[in-house]
Amino acid sequence: MTSPALDTASPYEPVAVERRYARPKATIHPDSSRGWLRRILPIVGAHRFLFFGSLALALVSMLLQVAIPAVIRDAIDTALSDRTAALGGFVAWVLVLGIGRAVLTFVYRYGLYRMAFEIDTDLRVILYEHLSRLSFSFFDRTQSGQVISRANSDIRSVQMFLVFAPLISMTTVMFVAALVFMLSIHVWLTVVAVLPLPGVYLLGKRLREDVFPLSWIVQSRLAEVAELVDENINGVRVVRSFATERHQIETLAKAATRLRWAGVRTMETRARYNPFIENLPRVGTLGVLVYGGWLVIEGQITEGTLFAFATYVLLLQAPFRTLGLFLMFGQRARASAARIYEVLDEQPEVVDRPDAVDLAEVEGRIVFDDVSFRYAGTDPDPADTTGEDRSGLVLDGFTLRIEPGETVALVGRTGSGKSTVARLLARFYDVTGGAITIDGHDVRDVTQASLRHAVGMVADDPFLFSTTLAANIAYARPDADRADVIAAATAAQAHEFIAALPDGYDEVVGERGYTLSGGQRQRVALARALLADPRILVLDDATSAIDVHVEELIHRALKEQLTDRTTIVIAQRLSTIALADRVALIERGRVVATGTHRELLATESRYAEILANLTDESDADDVTEAGDGWAEPTPIPGGGGA
Ligand SMILES: Nc1ncnc2c1ncn2[C@@H]1O[C@H](COP(=O)(O)OP(=O)(O)O)[C@@H](O)[C@H]1O
Ligand SMILES: [Mg+2]
Repeated sequence: MTSPALDTASPYEPVAVERRYARPKATIHPDSSRGWLRRILPIVGAHRFLFFGSLALALVSMLLQVAIPAVIRDAIDTALSDRTAALGGFVAWVLVLGIGRAVLTFVYRYGLYRMAFEIDTDLRVILYEHLSRLSFSFFDRTQSGQVISRANSDIRSVQMFLVFAPLISMTTVMFVAALVFMLSIHVWLTVVAVLPLPGVYLLGKRLREDVFPLSWIVQSRLAEVAELVDENINGVRVVRSFATERHQIETLAKAATRLRWAGVRTMETRARYNPFIENLPRVGTLGVLVYGGWLVIEGQITEGTLFAFATYVLLLQAPFRTLGLFLMFGQRARASAARIYEVLDEQPEVVDRPDAVDLAEVEGRIVFDDVSFRYAGTDPDPADTTGEDRSGLVLDGFTLRIEPGETVALVGRTGSGKSTVARLLARFYDVTGGAITIDGHDVRDVTQASLRHAVGMVADDPFLFSTTLAANIAYARPDADRADVIAAATAAQAHEFIAALPDGYDEVVGERGYTLSGGQRQRVALARALLADPRILVLDDATSAIDVHVEELIHRALKEQLTDRTTIVIAQRLSTIALADRVALIERGRVVATGTHRELLATESRYAEILANLTDESDADDVTEAGDGWAEPTPIPGGGGA
């Protein structure tokens, strides 16, 4: 399950990071028909020294625990039969056994928990590395935030089980040792001692059956409250702008009340069972004392033996108390493991071919040859066996040739497939039919790292990290010096506003860059792409929130900076479109006309029509703030700009 791309840094990976974390030595067994424990065995196996070492120590420690009452029994009997006997030897023995047990307990617990946390780290690394390889189609249909937060509790429950399972099996060994010891002394007294044990087990089982569903309810209501709080904080701008705080608080209070009910019910149930669960073992002790006391009087057993039995009664309870817990942990861990495996069994759809070569020395000739594409989840009609079903195709017969150094604008209505074209070029998805080539190389034949090194993409709502502006701009080249960062920012017309900030390039942007305006964010994202210096640049509505005059400066700077860069601009605004050498008009996933802006305007009635519509459709839902407080200019349909 390891990808070579993550093991050896390719020269096309912008950040050749030295691995600082310990790579897990093993991963889960790939055969999904195996049981969950058998699948996780390789990971546990990688820590077998800790695992078996701790178990051996735990075993010894528990046997010592069984031995201590036996020594005390001998001490009592010796003291009673010979009232002047020296007991120092017994005391020394008990001390040695007790200290030995204490030390062993410390070491084996340390070992087991250490193993558990190492496995925890392993699982996290495995899961995260796997997520980082999964294709966009996975993230389209999965809420990745949920995957991560669920993984936290899932990994924890698997980890808990891996600690408790061996411990509980060890208490069973202790149980058997104590039982054998007791049986060898007095069979009937042993029977009296174990009599209440099934009761202990049954009571515990009943309690769990009552509490377990309640604890699930508590869990899910906790999650509900957490989600509401999270949403309110992340969506604080929407909440405030509609003045719906009171409504949100109402909702939250209701959720909190539901949580309270479940919490109180859980405690009430526990409180009902606890007196019985705590006192039932004492019934065993009582039985042993009554029957055993009689046996002592009859002279059948010694006083010391009676003491030892009374102690063992309590030791015997341990496995009975924990057995049910063990079963419960087992069930929980199995469900958790299933969810973890579900993600790990997900195969990336876009992968490098084994014989993939690096896309080197890119000239920038792009050819879309009869490309068709359908997003996963919009599968064709299963009744159609001819493979000719065209329903759900976002691109259908998309053909376009772009020469090196050319700037081509893609123009079309919202939903006509423009962004999809950009995503396919960077191979975020694989085409359903046809082919995309760069300099004659099919994008599926080259390594993804080299392809994405060559193709730079800027989207309309760019994501910035909560770090300094300099670090955001140098994201793809952390080793870039300040002069390069400033040059890129200047080309993207971002230098001026950054320099005016109190901390300049060292200003830390807020979460997702929300302390900047939409237009400022776009310019920082553009600078980030320019610093990476891709041979092919795709601007997907990347300047939609930037003022027209500034945008023109940007395009001029782009032209100066690198004349032979191939550029695809997806634009809604006439001013942007006019900057392109050529325009491709897209309708329903195919190119219906190409030509210069003037040519199309003169010959294509559809072009003028779409341009007129763009004014209304134009990014109303994409842009949250207008650029920089400048008035957003309205494009004039069909008018100048060229
Ligand atoms: N990740 C996705 N999963 C499924 N369908 C998608 C996805 N992204 C876009 N689509 C659909 O594909 C079509 C084209 O979308 P898109 O390429 O974004 O259009 P444009 O950029 O021209 O507005 C739309 O109908 C849209 O609903
Ligand atoms: Mg789009």
